[in-house]
Amino acid sequence: MSKQHSSLTHEEKRVIEYYSNHIPTRPHEVTPETPLEHLNLNWTEKDLPERERTKHVHRLHPYLGKFIPQIVEIFLRKYFKEGETVYDPFCGSGTTLVEANVLGIHAIGCDIAAFNCLLTRVKTQEYDVDLMRKEVLDIVSKTEERVQPFLFDLHSWEDEFEDTDNEYLRMWYAPQARKELLIYRSMIPNYQYQDLLKVILSRSARSARLTTHFDLDFPKSPQTEPYYCYKHSRICYPTQEALKFLKRYSLDTIHRIQQYSRIRSKARSIVIWGDSRKAALPCFIGGVITSPPYVGLIDYHEQHRYAYELLGLPVKSEDELGAAFKGNSQSAKEIYKQGITEVFTHAGDYMKSGGRLVIIVHDRDDLYADIAAQCGFEVEDTVRRHVNRRTGRRSHEFFEEVFVWRKK
Ligand SMILES: C[S@@+](CC[C@H](N)C(=O)[O-])C[C@H]1O[C@@H](n2cnc3c(N)ncnc32)[C@H](O)[C@@H]1O
Repeated sequence: MSKQHSSLTHEEKRVIEYYSNHIPTRPHEVTPETPLEHLNLNWTEKDLPERERTKHVHRLHPYLGKFIPQIVEIFLRKYFKEGETVYDPFCGSGTTLVEANVLGIHAIGCDIAAFNCLLTRVKTQEYDVDLMRKEVLDIVSKTEERVQPFLFDLHSWEDEFEDTDNEYLRMWYAPQARKELLIYRSMIPNYQYQDLLKVILSRSARSARLTTHFDLDFPKSPQTEPYYCYKHSRICYPTQEALKFLKRYSLDTIHRIQQYSRIRSKARSIVIWGDSRKAALPCFIGGVITSPPYVGLIDYHEQHRYAYELLGLPVKSEDELGAAFKGNSQSAKEIYKQGITEVFTHAGDYMKSGGRLVIIVHDRDDLYADIAAQCGFEVEDTVRRHVNRRTGRRSHEFFEEVFVWRKK
């Protein structure tokens, strides 16, 4: 995905050196008057640790390909006022909408992947916090009670639940884990906050798969035997149960929803499940903040396959722009450029002249100059930022662009 350190240019190394002696921008200090050239978005891991990047509802469920909330906050403060509307045509896990709400800015998000829309809705919805807590604890304790009678009688539980012949669930879960997930799922219709419970179920299902601990993002085949674990530097065993995850994530979810409820505003959040090349928006927008998919990098449906299988969500992978399964050939790049151009042109139809389109992207193939030229915006500025990430066994370093375009 990235240029390795040795391939950074002399200029890029000079920029890293320069910014290492300057304090990174503090998002809450940014105002509409802050000049773009004063922004220093070159946070190191120490400046902006993972717990800050995944604060409150941002970490309700893992999502590969998120942008960091602090960048969104900076550009919301710079270009939007309270009561205006921001649009994110690739809303993913909902980062733009979550941050906008805290600042009293209305937000619309669109995404082609049904699970991403579910997750965004769950994050941005307003909760009766006491009721939410009661329901989250109740379903998990009822699941625990109901698991017991079946412990020695696998046959009778198989009869009780539909979908036990689901190929994916059979392959990727030990019988005990599958049973616990299906019991939990069968009770969701009894509660008010069903979507929140679906997200807890999905997060638990992700952890309860028969995978190695170091390959939770895109495991290729089920891990049924003990294995040497790079993450823990010892022999680990594939998990047999899901209940411990359901319990752990229930408590974590309650805590995160409570935290966010204390800082959220009454601003509206609207989530549209659809293709942002053509999805109709319900109103005019002040501008856009987004991070588009890249060419041939991630399959956004596939990364949450367990959720689609367990929750029976509809799939629209064919309409995903830049999906990994479509490759990164020259023709895939042309189709991508055309698709992104359509998305921004369409968003521009809902904007007044002068509105901003802020795009956070690692434009490694230099595709965005052409896109800008074709979609009715003029290039106002570009802020570059050094990204040096170390997560688990992956480590990479590159420069990411923040393009600021203005509606003509
Ligand atoms: C880089 S991710 C966005 C992540 C988001 N900024 C966040 O913080 O979670 C790109 C998103 O674009 C979505 N996407 C791809 N093609 C799309 C299309 N045609 N219409 C709408 N969304 C699409 C993918 O499903 C994915 O969630």
